[in-house]
Amino acid sequence: MLPHKKIESALQTAVRAVLPDLSRQSETMADADISKVLVRPCPDPKFGDYQSNALMALAKTSKLNPRQLATDVVAKLDVSAVCEKVEIAGAGFLNFRLKNSALAQTLNSAAAGEHLFFDKAAQPKTVVIDFSSPNVAKPMHVGHIRSTGIGDALQRTLRLLGHRVISDNHIGDWGTQFGKLLLGWKQILNRTDLERDAIAELERLYKIINAECDANSARLAEAKSELVKLQAGDAENTAIWKEMIALSQKQFDAIYGRLGVKFDFALGESFYNPWLGEVVTDLLTRGIARESEGAAGVFSDGSLPPKEDPFLVNRDGEWIPDPALVRKSDGGFNYMTTDLATIDYRLKTWAPDEINYVVDDRQAGHFKKLFLTFARWQPDAAKKVKLVHVGFGKIMGEDGKPFKTRSGDTVKLGDLLDEAEERAYTIVSEKSPELPEAQRREIARVIGLGAVKYADLLPNRQSDYIFSWDKMLALQGNTAPYLVYAYARIKSIFRKLETANSEQRTSNSPLAAAEELALAKHLLNFGITLEAVAEELRPNYLCNYLFELAGKFTSFYENCPVLKAEDAATKNSRLALCDLTARVLKQGLETLGIETVEQM
Ligand code: ARG
Repeated sequence: MLPHKKIESALQTAVRAVLPDLSRQSETMADADISKVLVRPCPDPKFGDYQSNALMALAKTSKLNPRQLATDVVAKLDVSAVCEKVEIAGAGFLNFRLKNSALAQTLNSAAAGEHLFFDKAAQPKTVVIDFSSPNVAKPMHVGHIRSTGIGDALQRTLRLLGHRVISDNHIGDWGTQFGKLLLGWKQILNRTDLERDAIAELERLYKIINAECDANSARLAEAKSELVKLQAGDAENTAIWKEMIALSQKQFDAIYGRLGVKFDFALGESFYNPWLGEVVTDLLTRGIARESEGAAGVFSDGSLPPKEDPFLVNRDGEWIPDPALVRKSDGGFNYMTTDLATIDYRLKTWAPDEINYVVDDRQAGHFKKLFLTFARWQPDAAKKVKLVHVGFGKIMGEDGKPFKTRSGDTVKLGDLLDEAEERAYTIVSEKSPELPEAQRREIARVIGLGAVKYADLLPNRQSDYIFSWDKMLALQGNTAPYLVYAYARIKSIFRKLETANSEQRTSNSPLAAAEELALAKHLLNFGITLEAVAEELRPNYLCNYLFELAGKFTSFYENCPVLKAEDAATKNSRLALCDLTARVLKQGLETLGIETVEQM
């Protein structure tokens, strides 16, 4: 068990001993409270290596004096195997300083391949992640990197920690747009263009027919009747629709292949069609939805203050209904209806503990309505699952406006990835002209794709960020090229070392230098960081952790000779630190969906 886990479990035991009531109140409630007793890296190493602020929250709920609670808990706390004396600070923080012996032992077991500073979750969760979810017949654009990259980093993190993950690409393969697409396909399709670039051709059809429909109601009626035929299962329209999906899927798959993103399922919206009628009938019979002007919708139940109620909007100072529509006046169903059927299906099929939706923040209102509606529809099932909208902000151009091409179009994801690789190639060729062309291409692929992904994962996901090629491709700063380079540089140390083969490295010499200690302690925080990413669904924690790791490695390497270390024991222990740093960097980047190269 890693030291922070030992501290955590000793702390939880001590809390139970001091607050026996907590465990008596109700079994589940106590478990929830106790499981919040966590330790985190101490923000300031002056005060310690780990810190827990959990007692203050516990004191508050149990109406106790936090300092007193801290004193009582510390009296029952035995962490002497791994820590120096525990300090109580401020309003009731506990600060822990790791013993050097515990540090050395953890490094040794890692060097022996027993772990890489993280443990598998003691209680694995089943987690559905709904991400990427592009729409058929539309090209994937730059915005899709957000949902795809964040979702993939989260599925990788959760899997690494031993959770059961079900990733599902909720593809938009159903909706009114197909009426227009079908009309276009039948009347103005260009087969040659379709073969060359299917999505571009489908997009062209849609744009033309859409404009015609806007201008001419007869045209709109024609498109509607194509849609009605499709919905009624007409053979010809169904065959065309299926072909459109297959053609789109081929292009999506090409992008996922490049990005190295895999899904367990891609159950598109249409998959849920058979259940939509039942869902609406059930909502109506239970009085959760009601009819209004021919449509059916879910309205506010008045349980929330208007400001927090997603079923209300404020118009000129007045709160008016903003229902979640589940059936249109023409009998068609809505995005909401499909999403309700989807939750129902997922719960019945996988019984997940959590469903995470990695979707643009502009859909925040939709998800609020969805989660509340589901809780009203199936209150018991809703209590067993945590539904989370993992929202994110927009990508802006350097002019501060939403990121577009020079001509003002949305940036296609495929083009963006091409450009990333091309730009990286120029940089790699300048830096390492001696490497053979094929190798430079491969490095450029890793660096270019990595740069785009990393730049997207680094900011707090809810904030908008500015897309800047120069910044994301820089070899200095908090970027993928910097981290991949840091990794390759460590690998070059081992190339220089003649005996760089499988010889086992142990760190039996005591860590002496401050930089060595700082690096070693930071390595130990890898697991805590992964857990925080999984808990709060924020991959940026891992980005910052890796950036700090590379920085700490640099100070170590500048101050502590490795290959020219004073004696063999020191050399070995420093080589072990190098090797472990490289392994954590590689594993960390991989968890973010970023590849590495051995040489740059
Ligand atoms: N296809 C949708 C869009 O492009 C995103 C779907 C997100 N997932 C969901 N279950 N609603 O806006």
